[in-house]
Amino acid sequence: MSVKRRAQIVGTGAALPARVVTNADLEKMVDTTDEWITTRTGIKERRIACSDEYLSQFASPAARQALERAEIEPDQVDLILCATVTPDMITPATACFIQEDLKAKNAAAFDLSAGCSGFLYALTTGQTFIEAGHARTVLVIGGEILSRFINWDDRSTCVIFADGAGALVLRAGEGERGVLASRMHSDGALADFITIAGGGSRYPITPESLERKVNTIKMRGNETFKVAVRSIEDVSREVIEAAGLTPDQIDLFVPHQANRRIIDAVAQRLGLDAERCYLNIEKTGNTSAASIPIALNDVVEAGRLRPDDHLLMAAFGAGLTWAGAVVRWGRDT
Ligand code: UT7
Repeated sequence: MSVKRRAQIVGTGAALPARVVTNADLEKMVDTTDEWITTRTGIKERRIACSDEYLSQFASPAARQALERAEIEPDQVDLILCATVTPDMITPATACFIQEDLKAKNAAAFDLSAGCSGFLYALTTGQTFIEAGHARTVLVIGGEILSRFINWDDRSTCVIFADGAGALVLRAGEGERGVLASRMHSDGALADFITIAGGGSRYPITPESLERKVNTIKMRGNETFKVAVRSIEDVSREVIEAAGLTPDQIDLFVPHQANRRIIDAVAQRLGLDAERCYLNIEKTGNTSAASIPIALNDVVEAGRLRPDDHLLMAAFGAGLTWAGAVVRWGRDT
């Protein structure tokens, strides 16, 4: 009987800017209050990069930490995937800067853009490369410097989005542990719910377009909120079922940290109590593609995942896109 080849998570890492911006700091910048931000989003503070810092300066250390913890040398990496909507440059891919920083000389490298779902899109891509036998070791990174694209006069977005990077190493294994199921979805009809419209070929940067702040994030927050709750619930149920499990068998839910109210609503619908649902949005804000790998690194560092635990991850974001994955934790012994 042939043994299924599985993508196992064998190391995690994260790197965040040192600068902390609190709700009290934002009160001095826009017409908002700590009370509004806390009750509407669950965020108390977030990390914001300095003006001379850029994505690969966080993505590379996060990836290096994940490799060190996995005890894998950079030259063993076959593929580097960097999920981001805020790359160092439009081209080349930030994944190539990471490849050079790590001296991962045998790796192919490319970026992947799927908004806040980007990390789970990248995880699914890496899983697929491994299961197909095209790669044995894949670095999956989610990172954002969203602060560079925030309109600091727009109180509906500047209080939410933040910066950071997280990474994990996927390695081919042959046991029962690893990614059991993953799914990705999109609906381009709702593309205008979350956009950074300027800087591409459709709305190039010109003095006039900069004046109109086309290079900043715009979000139809309230409408996005409603679709997010439904989509995250649906894709979570889909991957749990595809993994041959039921929600009561999920030991830990690490969702995209978009808004505490979204996470609470999804957890309640899935029947997951607070102990099984990880939240760090209070301290990180919404870091888009970086949020799940940063949160996952937190729970690994806290020792909250034991071998054979069932981990559920789910995300939703610009595109619109949504995705989910279920992992049986641990590696081959
Ligand atoms: O990351 C993946 C994709 N993104 C998401 O999933 C985000 C989903 N959306 C959200 O998290 C929420 O919609 C927000 C946190 C963005 C906004 O919360 P909301 O409860 O949906 O507020 P709202 O947009 O309906 O606005 C309610 C009120 C408005 O005032 P009026 O018109 O009722 O007088 C806003 O102007 O809150 C006002 N408001 C604020 N007030 C104080 C909006 N932002 C702020 C603010 N401080 N920062």
